[in-house]
Amino acid sequence: MPADGTTQREHDLLIAIDGPAASGKGTLARRLAAQYGLRHLDTGLTYRGVAKALVDTGQPLDDEVIAERAARALDLGALDRTVLSEHGVGEAASKVAVMPAVRPALVDKQRAFAATPPGAVLDGRDIGTVVCPHADVKLYVIASPEVRATRRWREIEAGGGSADYAEILADIERRDARDMGRADSPLRPADDAHLLDTSEMDIETAFQAACKLVDARMAAGNGD
Ligand code: CDP
Repeated sequence: MPADGTTQREHDLLIAIDGPAASGKGTLARRLAAQYGLRHLDTGLTYRGVAKALVDTGQPLDDEVIAERAARALDLGALDRTVLSEHGVGEAASKVAVMPAVRPALVDKQRAFAATPPGAVLDGRDIGTVVCPHADVKLYVIASPEVRATRRWREIEAGGGSADYAEILADIERRDARDMGRADSPLRPADDAHLLDTSEMDIETAFQAACKLVDARMAAGNGD
């Protein structure tokens, strides 16, 4: 049931948010989860968790059998955002994420999370297309590569690190190409996704726009 209790729903609210690196989907997902009283899963952390587990144990990132084993062993409850958010882990995660055997192992866990009351917001690359194609609301969040690189650069500097803007931009473009170009579950909007271009929007504006879409969906009822 939605947080305001005004509309009775036959199933828990499920919101799918997809988009490329540093598009703002994570912040949006966290705020929507808080607004509607839902659980939140950043599915990028699951791919990051697998990549980090391999790196930490000195195992290769390109062995599918080893990577699948690490994916099956992953505990969603033990994902440490601070450690996994490190910029280099994202690059390693996108290499692990191209492997077809890794994805279903993580998708099973993500779907179990999504199905747990009281409903959830999941963000990633394939939530609206593969993980939760039946989601009530699907958002596809984009921003230009330059805007995303600037955001990521600011994040790193604000965290006390130092980063090279040109390197970050190159990394974002490389990761976009890998995520959009892979054969299995490429990054793309679902046919029924709402496009949210945040290139010239601050987070508050993006959040308000997303709330409008969710509220409209809730007011329209379950639709099933
Ligand atoms: O935060 P950022 O957008 O940089 O990356 P992330 O969301 O943590 O995801 C890291 C990598 O995991 C992505 O580049 C994708 O290759 C992969 N990923 C995926 O394949 N499917 C998802 N549902 C989420 C992430």
